Amino acid sequence: MHTFPVKKIIEHGPGVKSFYFEQSFEAQPGQFVNLWIPGVDEKPFSVSAIKDGLIEISVKQYGSFTQKLMQARAGDLLGLRGPFGNGFTLRENALLIGGGIGIAPLRLLAAELHQNNKRFVSLFGAATKYELIFKADFKEISNCYFYTDDGSFGRKGLVTEDLLNIIRDEKIEFIYAAGPEIMFVKLKEIIDPLDIPYEFCMERYMKCGIGICGQCVLDGSGVRLCVEGPVLNQDDLKGVTELGMVHRDASGRRIK
Ligand SMILES: Cc1cc2nc3c(=O)[nH]c(=O)nc-3n(C[C@H](O)[C@H](O)[C@H](O)COP(=O)(O)OP(=O)(O)OC[C@H]3O[C@@H](n4cnc5c(N)ncnc54)[C@H](O)[C@@H]3O)c2cc1C
Ligand code: FES
Repeated sequence: MHTFPVKKIIEHGPGVKSFYFEQSFEAQPGQFVNLWIPGVDEKPFSVSAIKDGLIEISVKQYGSFTQKLMQARAGDLLGLRGPFGNGFTLRENALLIGGGIGIAPLRLLAAELHQNNKRFVSLFGAATKYELIFKADFKEISNCYFYTDDGSFGRKGLVTEDLLNIIRDEKIEFIYAAGPEIMFVKLKEIIDPLDIPYEFCMERYMKCGIGICGQCVLDGSGVRLCVEGPVLNQDDLKGVTELGMVHRDASGRRIK
C-alpha cells in the first residue's frame, strides 16, 4: 500500500464523484484497486480512466466508507493498492451495458476499444440523470442508448427494456456489462438463449484483494472474484449458484 495525494476531485452530481491520483501503475479495463482511507478502511474500486498521467476512480456514495470518501479534499493522502483481478478481453461489435456506477469500469474499456479501432455501442441506465455519468465521453466515440428510472434523461425505464431490438439492429456479437447483480440476472435471461458470448464485471465484499482470505468466493463455483474475477464470462458463471440471490457481509455471513 502506498499513499498518494488526491490530485483533483470532480463532482458529477449529488453523491457521485471522481477522484484523481498521479498514475503509478498500468491497469487493464475491469481491474480494480483497493482504496484506503487512513484510520477508516479500504474498499475496492474499478479504474474508470487512465489519462494524462492520472488514474481516475469514480465513486457513488452508499455507506460509511463512501460517505467518508465524499469528504476528501484535493491534497489529502489516500492509499492505493493494486491493480488487482483480471480484465475484459477486447472484442468487435460489442454492446457495453452499464447500470448505475457500473459505468465506471466500462469507461476505461470504451477508451481501449476505441484506441484499438473496435466498433462498440453503449447502453446505460441509472436512477437519475445525475448518476448517468460520462455521457458526453461515450457519445463522442459510440452510438449510445440511455435510460433513467425517473425519465430525467434518455428513455424512462431499464436497460433491458429494448435490449433484443438493440442487439438485432446494431448487429451485436459480444456483450460487456457492469452494474448491480440483479441486472446480470435479467441480462442472462435475455442473452443466454441468443448464445451471444459475454463478460460481466461483478462485485462482492472484498478484504485482501489477492485471493487469500476467501471473503469474495462465489458459491457453487469456488471462483475468488478478486483473482479469477471481477470479470467473469458465460462459462465462469455456469457454476455460480448465488447470482442475484445472496452475498456476504464483512464477517463472511451470507445475506439474502
Ligand atoms: C471489484 C469491485 C469494483 C468496484 N468498483 C466500484 C466503483 O468503481 N465505484 C463504486 O462506487 N463502487 C465500486 N465498488 C463497490 C465499493 O467497493 C463499495 O462496496 C461500495 O462503495 C459501498 O461501500 P460503503 O462502505 O460505502 O457501503 P457499505 O457500508 O458497504 O454499504 C452500505 C449499504 O449499501 C449497500 N451496498 C453496498 N454496496 C452496494 C452496491 N454496489 N450496490 C448497491 N448497494 C450496495 C449495502 O448492502 C448496505 O446496505 C466496487 C466493488 C468491487 C468488488
Ligand atoms: S478478497 Fe480475499 S480472497 Fe478475495
